[in-house]
Amino acid sequence: MISLRRSGLLAVTLPGLLLLAACGSNNSAEHTTTAASAPADSAQTKTTAMPTSASFGKTTDGTEVQLFTLANASGVKATITNYGGILTSLLVPDKDGKLGDVILGFDNVSGYQSPEYQKAGPYFGALIGRYGNRIKGGKFTLDGKEYTLAKNNGPNSLHGGLKGFDKVIWQAEPASSADGQSLKLSYVSKDGEEGYPGNLNVTVVYTLTNDNALRIDYTATTDKATPINLTNHAYFNLNHGAGKDILGHEVTLPADRYTVVDATLIPTGELRPVKGTPFDFTTPHAIGERIAQVPGGYDHNWVLNTATGSHAAATVYEPTTGRTLEVTTDEPGIQFYTGNFLDGTLKGKGGTVYGKHAGFCLETQHFPDSPNQPKFPNTILKPGETYHTVSTYKFGVRK
Ligand code: BGC
Repeated sequence: MISLRRSGLLAVTLPGLLLLAACGSNNSAEHTTTAASAPADSAQTKTTAMPTSASFGKTTDGTEVQLFTLANASGVKATITNYGGILTSLLVPDKDGKLGDVILGFDNVSGYQSPEYQKAGPYFGALIGRYGNRIKGGKFTLDGKEYTLAKNNGPNSLHGGLKGFDKVIWQAEPASSADGQSLKLSYVSKDGEEGYPGNLNVTVVYTLTNDNALRIDYTATTDKATPINLTNHAYFNLNHGAGKDILGHEVTLPADRYTVVDATLIPTGELRPVKGTPFDFTTPHAIGERIAQVPGGYDHNWVLNTATGSHAAATVYEPTTGRTLEVTTDEPGIQFYTGNFLDGTLKGKGGTVYGKHAGFCLETQHFPDSPNQPKFPNTILKPGETYHTVSTYKFGVRK
């Protein structure tokens, strides 16, 4: 079942006054806007600070894009750019309270547009759409009509096509509420864009909560039936900034089955039990423990034991720093990808070289190629319906 709700309301309320104030002052200069009108009835009568913004440089076509910083009372900070809705950094504490950046990325927009980056196509931290993951042969049939997408991954279409939501400029509205600071990103994907049908109105809200979680709310409506599968493609390395690989991280995935794939990573349709295989993460295992038994490394979709409502999707623990990450979602699947295609050609923030397994992704999602797999949960959004899905990445420490 696709996570659809008839109501277009988001779980977060974005005070209109604050939004307007933020939009008006959203220029390239670094600024902090203070909310003049925190809700009088709120328990937090203290003034709520707004996210700050600064220039993130100019895109190759000369458009200036912004970098927004969301912060909470514990000093946790998330930076997000309106280019591709990319999460570029996330500073979270280790077991000694030391903040460290746990996200792979670049210091400015040119890093995300360099020829090497475009060639490698790792989608660091980006919003992915319309369809996260692969669609076989770049084709699907809907209401009797065949649609053709760009084949940008061997014979298949991956992550929305040649210019997916990771490469477009989103309209950004910073806000602040009792939940924490947030950034609302909006984009209208035109009928026919990248071969997909229907004008799709998409809104994604990143909220940094006071309990050190980054919540991502995805909402969309369409005027023609279309496949949709939105996700975020952050690469995590809880051992601060990817100086080391992620093989020592211990991962738990509450999933008894995974979608078996062919040589081009398209599901065969079989949901195979993980028991007795290197795919069994129902109890914690270091990523590196059995990765050599998986040709190419992990790059698969796990079928979460719970498919509806908010449920656990993954837990990660990094023993040297004590950092933990808990992922919850209302999606039925999660793509666990261990940065197998990173090869050291990309140099990120502070000159860090991103080699093989420098980061891992936990992409909450519907299953790959669902538009061509009638037995998989539905990914077709119809006019009159509202797509709404929420995933949360919560950070902590274990001492
Ligand atoms: C895919 C990988 C791909 C990576 C970067 C992941 O979601 O499963 O196969 O290499 O994205 O494009």
